[in-house]
Amino acid sequence: MQRNVFIKTFGCQMNERDSEIMSQILGTLGYIECLEESQADLIILNTCSIRAKAEQKVMSHLGALRKEKTKRPSLKICVAGCVAQQEGNNIVRKMPHVDLVIGTQEIYKIGELISELEDSTVATALSNEYEIPRFIPNKKTISSGTSYKKFVTIMQGCNNFCTYCVVPYTRGREVSRNSDDIIEEIRVLINNGVKEVTLLGQNVNSYGKTNPVSNQKPGYDFADLLHDVANIEGLKRLRFTTSNPKDLTDRLMRCFRDIPLLCPQFHLPVQAGSNNVLKRMNRKYTRESYLELVDKLREYRPDIVITTDVIVGFPGETDEDFEQTMDMLETVRYHGSFSFKYSDRPGTASLKLDNKISEAVKSARLSRFQKRQDEICLEHNQNFVGSILEVMVEGCDGESIKTRSATNHLVHIDSDQTLPAGAIVQAEIIQAGLHSLKGALV
Ligand code: 5AD
Ligand code: SF4
Repeated sequence: MQRNVFIKTFGCQMNERDSEIMSQILGTLGYIECLEESQADLIILNTCSIRAKAEQKVMSHLGALRKEKTKRPSLKICVAGCVAQQEGNNIVRKMPHVDLVIGTQEIYKIGELISELEDSTVATALSNEYEIPRFIPNKKTISSGTSYKKFVTIMQGCNNFCTYCVVPYTRGREVSRNSDDIIEEIRVLINNGVKEVTLLGQNVNSYGKTNPVSNQKPGYDFADLLHDVANIEGLKRLRFTTSNPKDLTDRLMRCFRDIPLLCPQFHLPVQAGSNNVLKRMNRKYTRESYLELVDKLREYRPDIVITTDVIVGFPGETDEDFEQTMDMLETVRYHGSFSFKYSDRPGTASLKLDNKISEAVKSARLSRFQKRQDEICLEHNQNFVGSILEVMVEGCDGESIKTRSATNHLVHIDSDQTLPAGAIVQAEIIQAGLHSLKGALV
């Protein structure tokens, strides 16, 4: 029997892939993804709790679904992801119209849980001995989402306990996925037309280090995995995210020199520029050691585009501390960044710190940072004008072609040509904006 599932994903790329996994598993039970909530027999909210705002969004969406459930009592509502893990039973207590709460380590069981659903099932076990189940999508289930680029999960969880961060509590301890499974999944993807993969984990740099991968020789690490993946016949582009600077080895940085299909793009979250703040964040690196990494990366791959994450207004952040964050931006000249106001999260160590920064100060710091980042980003983008970039086609509408460069810039090309998604062409950059470049086919 065909049934429709509607999945709404909040938060990170990890969650995007988890949503796709749930869709692929449900696909084997006859569920088809639909685009409208109103057509769904099953609605899944795959949630994020990284900041209070993200969690509020989920809660208000869930509240609104109460009406829908009253109208259509056969509708099933499922909450997955980080809020599900964090809140567990509280969700069904507050929202009795929720049928299933499924935690971050339970998503591979969604098929069984949905088939045998009893009133308000809560499945949020979080184990230190967790292993990522062997799950390889097949030709039939692969098709959800885009066809030419895909995310591949290589690890789950986090052991770092940055003092502001909820992730170690919502995703559990770090566990690396069996590398044979990763490579087999990528082979299947390539055989089905995929050209680009992004390897995903909360801290990919420590792949294989904690919870050693059972099928591998001792010492097999993320650099080994990158080399093995890059050798898979037919792969055109390789990316990864996210990295913690404290675990960035020289061997890994050399991959940017030695693996041509590894895209020259590195997201290296700095979070703060002041050593005092970094220490209180438990980041385990200093601004000096971070800057050394940036220099090394640029030595190994001169065209590398470095982006970052920044938190402003961490408890106790002084004006001088914040100036150090601004100075980091001037020194590294990031091509782009995600910047956030510090947000108190349940269970984290920073929740208990004194000297919380006022909303007004946080807002002022954030806008100052973002304004300067935009200026720098535009300057970088303008430097591309006149150069020729290899770009991958994302889509065509008869008037223009939307493409992406290896540096992860969006490049729009005026052209009535129809090229298949995933095709690689050369574009001369003729104009630069803040959010995209304009190119001409060469
Ligand atoms: N408050 C604000 N930003 C946060 N981040 C993580 N936790 C918090 C928090 N409590 C940011 C970090 C991280 C990104 C994914 O979200 O910058 O790198
Ligand atoms: Fe949000 Fe972090 Fe969970 Fe991703 S891992 S969904 S960013 S809280």
